[in-house]
Amino acid sequence: MASPRVRVELQFSGRFESAPRGVVFAPGRLNLLGEHVDHQGGPVLPLPLPLGVHCGWAPRPDRAVRVIALDAGAGDRFVLGQYAKSGRRWADLVRGAFQALEAEGLRVPGVDLVVAGDLPARRGLGSSGAFLAAVVRAVDAARGDDPLPPADVARVVMEAEARWGGTRCGPMDPYVATVGVPGQPLLLDCARLVHEPLPWPAGVEAVAVDSGVHRALSETPYNTRRAELEEGLKRLAHAREAARAARTLVDDVRLLDREPEPFARRARHFVTEVRRVHEAAAALRRGDADALGRLLDEGHRSLARDFEASSPELDALVATERARPGVLGVRLQGAGFGGTLVVLRRTAPAPSSEA
Ligand code: GLA
Repeated sequence: MASPRVRVELQFSGRFESAPRGVVFAPGRLNLLGEHVDHQGGPVLPLPLPLGVHCGWAPRPDRAVRVIALDAGAGDRFVLGQYAKSGRRWADLVRGAFQALEAEGLRVPGVDLVVAGDLPARRGLGSSGAFLAAVVRAVDAARGDDPLPPADVARVVMEAEARWGGTRCGPMDPYVATVGVPGQPLLLDCARLVHEPLPWPAGVEAVAVDSGVHRALSETPYNTRRAELEEGLKRLAHAREAARAARTLVDDVRLLDREPEPFARRARHFVTEVRRVHEAAAALRRGDADALGRLLDEGHRSLARDFEASSPELDALVATERARPGVLGVRLQGAGFGGTLVVLRRTAPAPSSEA
């Protein structure tokens, strides 16, 4: 089959009256580390993929919007300012994105869009964020103004996901889908929404392994976990204040030991994950793949035990991958509850003992 970009170009000219004025590419990501911290302003360390979503665009002279989603084999049409739910998830997300763009006070033109990608959905690779970021950036390009900063793209996408998709996601996926360069990891500070590209160490690769358990985010307890984490962090803040007032210095993990479950565990995942992300960024800066691997392993244990986003089957798969020759670290990445593992391994694995 032709590449998604070529499909977008051909189908655009075939279905609409002109060629697209431009085609936007929004990559998916493997997340090396920093899980379920983005919505609380924590740091994340995603690796943009060469797979993603392409969106062709051309402005229209009227207030109509026509969208063709080639992978869904479907189209949608609506008028700017009139945003009723359509009952189709992908179409509602697009409508939500237009509404959120207008709510930012931007003058949005009528536009024709054709979307196609090679990023599999329901695998925890940020496909929903990439889809919406592609649409938002295409509409933005059709405005013909200075491009929206990545923080604004992320905000618009989060708004659409929360209001029209029902999931209160963080900024990681749409942000990466806006600035990501395939193969180049980036440290994203989700509080300030600024990023720093980091080098990739020589002699290792990060490989995506499909767990075979596929799910949409809206089918997972994502919102529940997020709410539990928020409660845990609120309790941690109070505990810190009380410790300070008592003139004692107690570290966060010990403070959390005195808080009830599941809030203590959720917040412990956050506190330790933030530390791991900073250590992993330092490991990447000095090219230390072994240290990065250890942090991935620790990250998985925390995601499984403290955040409870894994399962015995997924843990067993992680253990199987971890035992292969040349592997330095493995974890379930993305929101969890299925999806994709990230396996860090040497590019030329040492021969196994049976060989
Ligand atoms: C999903 C969300 C992200 C992030 C991850 C978990 O991919 O879209 O915002 O919260 O889960 O780290």
